[in-house]
Amino acid sequence: MALSDGVFKVRLHAIEYGAPGINIYTFEALDGQPLATYEPGAHVDVVMAPDLLRQYSLLWPATHPARYQIAVQLAEVGKGGSRKLHFESVVGATYEMSQPRNHFPLLPSDEEFHLFAGGIGITPIVSMYRKLKAEGRKASLYYWASSAQHMLFHEQLCREQDGVRLFHTRSGGGVPPRLKDILATLPHSAQLYCCGPQGMVDEFDRLTLHRPQANNHRERFSATTDALQPGDSFRVRLQRSGLTLTVAAEQSLLQVCEAAGVEVAYSCEEGVCGACEVKVLAGQVEHRDTVLSPAQRQRSETMMICCSRGLGDSLVLDL
Ligand code: FES
Repeated sequence: MALSDGVFKVRLHAIEYGAPGINIYTFEALDGQPLATYEPGAHVDVVMAPDLLRQYSLLWPATHPARYQIAVQLAEVGKGGSRKLHFESVVGATYEMSQPRNHFPLLPSDEEFHLFAGGIGITPIVSMYRKLKAEGRKASLYYWASSAQHMLFHEQLCREQDGVRLFHTRSGGGVPPRLKDILATLPHSAQLYCCGPQGMVDEFDRLTLHRPQANNHRERFSATTDALQPGDSFRVRLQRSGLTLTVAAEQSLLQVCEAAGVEVAYSCEEGVCGACEVKVLAGQVEHRDTVLSPAQRQRSETMMICCSRGLGDSLVLDL
């Protein structure tokens, strides 16, 4: 595990109840000085233990210049990051954190925005909604959760005059509209943003395949199942270092670069954080991360070297 991008220490300032199984954690700078600003969609890496690093979306806007807030759902399965926060964290404890990174930014557009959230995916989505509303933009937010009680910011969202539609999937009262029902009503020019469980984002990708890819934006929480699987061996040329390296079937490109003494930034090592993104100068890539959108994968201008691999021996990277 490694943190890049200027790691710094923060103090856990407050823990608040958000919804069943979801707490909101507020961290503040140890010296009380303002932290780096960020935009909706940004996340930070939080070090939970020496070998445990997790990524969490930042809530926007910040409630204080020296504080960051994240919402964390207690995961039934996973590596234990949420369990550590939910069951072991104490106010006043210090944590290491990365600077914010944003691989899910709101892109400028004059078109209407439609934001889709499932479960804890509401964190970046509600941040985007707040920003668009603050700018006086037309935006719609659609949020699916099992019941009203399980919705983060339920009361605040209910107070919104328009633009917010809340769907309860398990509380009776009929079957709520599905993602496909709503997408079918939207013009192809609409800017679409989606964050939620894997099944929801998979469906979003499938349902938006025929739409202009530049208008479809989504973020996943977890690595793809093939992210860390072995693949074919391949060769890569590192343009700036002047090195040509061979990546064996069981190795990752990141491991091989490190072994060769090439300095590379990385964090999650499973294709979800975007820290190891490297510019591709030539060659074909088998993308295995969850950071790049289908359109970005197609353009293949960059790749995540912790999990994605070269196809054939023609890969050239800006390293
Ligand atoms: S280190 Fe996180 S995407 Fe590669």
